Amino acid sequence: MIKKRSGRKQCSLPLPVPLVAVVLLICATYKYILPLKVEMVGWPAQLLPLALNESNRVVIQDFFKPYDPAYPTSLPTKNYYRKINLRPLAPYRTSGANFSAWLEEQTSTSFEKLLANIGDSSYNSLREQGVAEGAVIASPSKEKPDYFYQWPRDAAITVNTVVSNLVGSDKAVNLTLAGTIVKYLNNSAVLQRVPNPSGQGVGGSDPQLKGLGEPKFEVDSSAFTGNWGRPQNDGAPLRLIATFHFLQRLCDAKVDLKQLIAELQGQGQGQELRLSFHDEESLFETLIRYDLEFVTQNWKVDSFDLWEEVKGHHFFTSLVQLAATKQGLHYMKTHGRENDPLAQKLQQAANKLNDFLTLEGGFLNPNKNYIVETPSNLNSRSGLDVAVLIASLLTHAEDEGEGSSPHTNLPFGVNDSGILNTLHSLVSTMAIIYPVNHQRHSPRMGVALGRYPEDVYDGIGTSEGNPWFLATSHAAQLLYQLIHKMYADQADLEIPVNTWESKFWTSIFEGFEEYPSGGVLAGGGDYRLIIPYKSPAFHQTMVSLLNYGDSFLDKLREHVGEDGSMSEQFNKYTGIMQGARELTWSHGAFWSSSHVREQVLPLISSPN
Ligand code: NOJ
Ligand code: NOJ
Repeated sequence: MIKKRSGRKQCSLPLPVPLVAVVLLICATYKYILPLKVEMVGWPAQLLPLALNESNRVVIQDFFKPYDPAYPTSLPTKNYYRKINLRPLAPYRTSGANFSAWLEEQTSTSFEKLLANIGDSSYNSLREQGVAEGAVIASPSKEKPDYFYQWPRDAAITVNTVVSNLVGSDKAVNLTLAGTIVKYLNNSAVLQRVPNPSGQGVGGSDPQLKGLGEPKFEVDSSAFTGNWGRPQNDGAPLRLIATFHFLQRLCDAKVDLKQLIAELQGQGQGQELRLSFHDEESLFETLIRYDLEFVTQNWKVDSFDLWEEVKGHHFFTSLVQLAATKQGLHYMKTHGRENDPLAQKLQQAANKLNDFLTLEGGFLNPNKNYIVETPSNLNSRSGLDVAVLIASLLTHAEDEGEGSSPHTNLPFGVNDSGILNTLHSLVSTMAIIYPVNHQRHSPRMGVALGRYPEDVYDGIGTSEGNPWFLATSHAAQLLYQLIHKMYADQADLEIPVNTWESKFWTSIFEGFEEYPSGGVLAGGGDYRLIIPYKSPAFHQTMVSLLNYGDSFLDKLREHVGEDGSMSEQFNKYTGIMQGARELTWSHGAFWSSSHVREQVLPLISSPN
């Protein structure tokens, strides 16, 4: 059988050799062989032939050193020889010092505004408006639109953010925040027991606990009985993620929940609350167990997406369900509950959900290099959705300390090519469809992002879709978390050199198109760009990702209110805020993004 071979490996040419073939050969030599050799900077010269035959590695040690005697193969004419380079910085950007000062201030403002939307009589007066202790309101807006409700999804995502701020740099647990989180957990147990239009909850007659799929409750924790897109099965798993996050943080800080609760009650914080749990075991039996049960029983069922519009299966919902299931299983195994029948159910659900997400669900589509949020909806939408990025971020919290490893083996982390390409496609599309982005389009310039390109929700009704604060903040967060992951992995950055699978990376590097791809190499496959861990080029790449992330937040700076307020969205033509004011999730997403940035700054600035 004759195998297709790479052009470079052609063995014999018929005689007499036509002139054109000679010319072609020379061209090919210049195009493929010469550049390849010299891009292998850092390889000892004697190893080069071997490296060339055995792999197709394009190793770059330093993007900014065209000539260095330490790297014998690099040459001064680097522009000709080096085909892959870092893209230059965007032409304009607010000055670094200004940006940092603004960021610092906005970050603390956002956190304050977030806390103002959680019922906690120890520091705000929401109770006077009928808000239950521990209830998270989506926004204080009571009309146009009325967002004065608690959505379990928004609440869990918000509290997960509060947990990230629980332990300060002094390693001490912030008791005020701990009090808020405990109140949230207590109120969650109340919501689990409220019969509602989605069904019965805990203590009712339904063994499937359908009531835990209820998307929205009144602020006093009674049922909301109006029409709505029901059920939404992401709320319970998100609450589990926030809860396990909290327990993990306490464990890392060596604080026992029982002691913590006693301390809070001693301070008068929990006194009149009558908590339905008093330690970790009773929290598990009161709250956690039912959310886990709910996920194992309902993950297969169609539900509305996080944007409350489409019924079906969704990447976001399934990924948070898988993460919660795996975290629950990990928790049970490490807390002496491995023989509980629930653990077995979790194991089965985790296996099936994993197959569903990675194989059967249709989220990976051979015609798209990004992840499809709702495959059943592909006839009317592109499938492109910022929900995909948010799902990855919420389930792969790289800012956690040692010991929080339940995320191991969870697919679709922040360095997954499908996740990164989703960001890339969102940016490319939204740079065009939102006029507020027109003045800043360049490959390495963040733009304002919305939920999905076909969106028509304007914050009150339907007309035209706009960019959202939370979507844009989460884009920045993805880049920061990617940096965090690369330092945590301590591995060389290795990227297939092609413009399909590695599309995202073409916004960071230029020159990929200079390389042939698609199996032309010996053994098939693509060239691989290798940036050795901790090499100057590695550092340069991380700085580039950081700047790219910053440019998203910097865009938001143009749209936030003077007092640091953030609504849900801002007009795509005028840039003026619209939709629910002081949206809790907008502030939480901004804070989280900035928080991950704070974690990576020291990694990037340390010399080794
Ligand atoms: C329609 C929007 O698209 C959806 O996201 C929102 O949750 C509801 N309206 C309620 O405001
Ligand atoms: C509309 C969003 O689409 C949904 O995700 C959110 O839960 C509600 N607003 C409340 O913020």
